[in-house]
Amino acid sequence: MCGIIGAIAKRDVVPILMEGLKRLEYRGYDSAGLAVLDYASHQLKSQRVTGKVQQLETKLKNAPFSSTIGIAHTRWATHGKPSDENAHPHISRNTVAVVHNGIIENYLALRRQLEQQGYQFLSDTDTEVIAHQIHFFLQQNNDLNSAVRATLPLLKGAYAIAVMSSSAPDCLIAARLGSPLVIGIGVGEHFIASDAAALVPVTQRIIYLEDGDIATLQRDHFQITDISGNSVTRGEQISRLAIDTMERGEHRHFMHKEIFEQPRAIAETLEGRIYQERILSAILGPQADDLLAPITAVQIIACGTSYHAGLVARYWIETFVRIPCFVEIASEFRYRQPLANPRTLIVTLSQSGETADTLAALHEAKRLGFGPSLAICNVPESALVRASDLVLMTHAGAEIGVASTKAFTTQLVCLLILTVLLGRHRGMSVEVEKKIVAALLSLPRQIETVLKLDAQITQLAEQFADKQHALFLGRGIHYPIALEGALKLKEISYIHAEAYPAGELKHGPLALVDATMPVIAVAPNDALQEKLKSNLQEVHARGGQLFIFANHHAIMQQSDYIKVIELGTLEEIISPIVYAIPLQLLAYQVALIKGTDVDQPRNLAKSVTVE
Ligand code: G6P
Repeated sequence: MCGIIGAIAKRDVVPILMEGLKRLEYRGYDSAGLAVLDYASHQLKSQRVTGKVQQLETKLKNAPFSSTIGIAHTRWATHGKPSDENAHPHISRNTVAVVHNGIIENYLALRRQLEQQGYQFLSDTDTEVIAHQIHFFLQQNNDLNSAVRATLPLLKGAYAIAVMSSSAPDCLIAARLGSPLVIGIGVGEHFIASDAAALVPVTQRIIYLEDGDIATLQRDHFQITDISGNSVTRGEQISRLAIDTMERGEHRHFMHKEIFEQPRAIAETLEGRIYQERILSAILGPQADDLLAPITAVQIIACGTSYHAGLVARYWIETFVRIPCFVEIASEFRYRQPLANPRTLIVTLSQSGETADTLAALHEAKRLGFGPSLAICNVPESALVRASDLVLMTHAGAEIGVASTKAFTTQLVCLLILTVLLGRHRGMSVEVEKKIVAALLSLPRQIETVLKLDAQITQLAEQFADKQHALFLGRGIHYPIALEGALKLKEISYIHAEAYPAGELKHGPLALVDATMPVIAVAPNDALQEKLKSNLQEVHARGGQLFIFANHHAIMQQSDYIKVIELGTLEEIISPIVYAIPLQLLAYQVALIKGTDVDQPRNLAKSVTVE
């Protein structure tokens, strides 16, 4: 999704803006641009490109900019195709430059009014109305801050914006409503960005703006106000993102690095949460026991990969806690008018904590009268974390690859922790808890072992490179892992992949099976393995090519059409977490062969801040 970076300093900000743009690339984008104020001419100068930040860099090498104030943007198209004209910043009458993340729903009405005032539109975007509208008010009172404050109430929708003007050469203005924005504090310099990751090289001192906030940044001073101009105070945080989490190191892609970081990410997520083989009850805060004790059901809400984590958790919660657990895609939940129960715990799952649908679904659940809310999230201070009663952070570290890997497995770890905490109120025995904890503690080691399959999976991947379609099968708690495996493959290799519970094979997908269709089976040694084996025989009998991930190679006789990838003996409770890993590797290796943009797959975004 769109990324914003802005800086006002006593040094040249162009390298800071360019580095910030590179650090925002992971969010997903299709064009990029920047605007600065040229001190000699007192004019705004801008450069925009369709495509990658690298191309913007090349353009700037040929015609360098330098300035002590500027704003820049990576755009993910919503209104208007990816093009130079639609890329941000948008500039009104050479005076006001704006970058924007979000969607202005009433932009057409505003555009018509502004056109009547004589403003000429050069793009198809909703953003351009903001630039012209600010210019319109600026002409009347010659004060940028008042012009922004007059404009914001006219905008319906969601926004994070950064604004600069040649009429106010020593100030940058930022505002947010529904889309994320942070301020970075330096010495004699201040910054604006969509997330703290963009500011890692320049400052760790971060302030998260809240909805309705307007920040005015000068070199030695900043102020945050509400829409009426009343001063508001927001706490300063020290960002935990270290520079090394933002570098690829020896890995070709962030996704590969992040797959291999999973043992450490899981160990860090468990750190400080276990004592004497039991989960520490204090980890959810002092009010947790009172909020969890009356709970009789769980409703999980999430999108994408996070939704798949929720589907796995349903099996754990219903098996170990013995209360019903419902799991729904946030964009469906928010419009379904679900039946609310004040004793149902709302659990939101989100790596970014900014997914618009998940946030809206949480607000809807609150409005309808559901019970307390708990967020499992990777970004402290994200909107979701702030809107929830209880929080369980995944400590995965920054995840840059758009296709989620370590955020997913650490979500699963947190969901198992939650299962224990809920189970305590519903009579879970100490033995069962200790068994779950022991399994959790063994995870980093088990994943290390499975990561050694990378070379074997690389060979396997060659058989996928010319395929158009793939079918993933699983049963029980491993069915959501099949879903996640299919999602990973389609996200980054662009091969059409679908997942089915293997028992459904006969009810449709078997018609697709022939020698050109690879079928990937998640086949651990559990109670459903025999049934799954019968399903796999059905595929084999129809000439399908089978790739079976199993505990032991003896599951089926290997042949040209049957390949078994052996994962070794695993503790059943954590088996879905471990089985996710080879499927991530498979998707990665296939994408590598296909030469796709692994970390930033086409049309996708890391943080989906629009509906
Ligand atoms: C996007 C990302 C996915 C992610 C989904 C939900 O589609 O590309 O990796 O699973 O959003 O995001 P969330 O931040 O809420 O987990």
